[in-house]
Amino acid sequence: MSTKYHKLKVKQVVRETPDTISIYFKQPFFSKIRYKPGQFLTLLVPINGQVERRSYSMSSCPHTEDELCVTVKRVANGKVSNYLNDHLKPGQELEVMEPMGNFHLDLHPVQRHVVLIGAGSGITPLMSIAKAVLRMESTSIVSLLYGNRSEDSIIFKEILDKLQKQFSGRFQVLHILSRPSHTWTGYRGRLSQSLATKLLNELPKLNVHKMDYYLCGPQGMMEEMQATLLAMQVPAEKIHKESFVTAQATATTKPETEAVSNSVVKTEEVTLRYDGSVYKIKVSPNKTILEAGLDSGLDLPYSCQSGLCTACRGKCLSGKVKMDEEDGLSPQEIKEGFVLPCVSHPLTSDVVIEIG
Ligand SMILES: Cc1cc2nc3c(=O)[nH]c(=O)nc-3n(C[C@H](O)[C@H](O)[C@H](O)COP(=O)(O)OP(=O)(O)OC[C@H]3O[C@@H](n4cnc5c(N)ncnc54)[C@H](O)[C@@H]3O)c2cc1C
Ligand code: FES
Repeated sequence: MSTKYHKLKVKQVVRETPDTISIYFKQPFFSKIRYKPGQFLTLLVPINGQVERRSYSMSSCPHTEDELCVTVKRVANGKVSNYLNDHLKPGQELEVMEPMGNFHLDLHPVQRHVVLIGAGSGITPLMSIAKAVLRMESTSIVSLLYGNRSEDSIIFKEILDKLQKQFSGRFQVLHILSRPSHTWTGYRGRLSQSLATKLLNELPKLNVHKMDYYLCGPQGMMEEMQATLLAMQVPAEKIHKESFVTAQATATTKPETEAVSNSVVKTEEVTLRYDGSVYKIKVSPNKTILEAGLDSGLDLPYSCQSGLCTACRGKCLSGKVKMDEEDGLSPQEIKEGFVLPCVSHPLTSDVVIEIG
């Protein structure tokens, strides 16, 4: 199966906060893009003659909104997030890859409580999930714990206020600000284990099987929230997480990846099956399988190049590969033999990967 690309026209660019915009795309007239709440689009953004790929979760609700919307927050010195915030204009066209991602919500016919925990730009997929549950599951309830720095950095503040009024009794938002103004009357401080435990204990309780938890935000916050939930006896399979950045990227000193430092990795030939063709590529120890494929001129699908987004996903049909990072794949996918070529190195000479 090949990855489909679409050309989308920017309908509107809305400034949400001083450092965040929402980009509304017109749906293609003929083949509408389908996605699930929580999934992301990969944007191909031409900057200075080079095409950069970045993933952005959709903040729109696929069930009730006609347009597709992604929300982009500036990252300090970030190439694409700053370019989009500064230069993107309505009418411009951008190429995007088919929506993807394992962090998604399937609608449920029975009442449940969906608890969303996020910080900063992590609100984006949570917003799509919240709108889907509130509008499509008439008896389910949604709670959102949302951490930010100050009042003016809260993305979607007005929309969240409106939704709370519209779905009063079914939607509750708890804002936690680390550096609020002196007039702030909400929660103050970091979204720590102790504060989260207190807030979560005050939320309406349903049977454990009727509770679902979705976490998205900085790596450290998600690890702390996951530990909090596990300590509260929430089953691990009820906790869903999305990472926008690898732990390695946020670490002050980058550890050498295990695969590269591991002497068993040597140059091997790898067979890639993609889009009905078979390609053989040589992969040296200092390259990933994706990098070697791109260097050979193959038009392979990819986005984050750090094992998070699954855009490059393939199934290992034979041989053994070593992945530097597995967080993007579910335990079930790993069991079924799926691999992420952007962080994979061949360990044997008979590796065959079917991409897509
Ligand atoms: C599945 C997925 C969904 C995503 N959804 C969103 C979204 O909805 N909204 C959104 O704003 N971003 C989202 N991102 C992050 C986005 O893809 C880019 O990584 C981000 O915009 C930075 O790109 P850049 O080109 O500006 O920075 P780059 O030039 O690529 O990086 C600059 C520096 O910033 C670091 N960095 C990269 N991303 C982050 C980050 N998110 N936080 C802190 N440091 C970072 C890098 O390690 C690097 O050191 C998502 C990422 C993934 C994998
Ligand atoms: S390109 Fe994102 S996981 Fe490989």
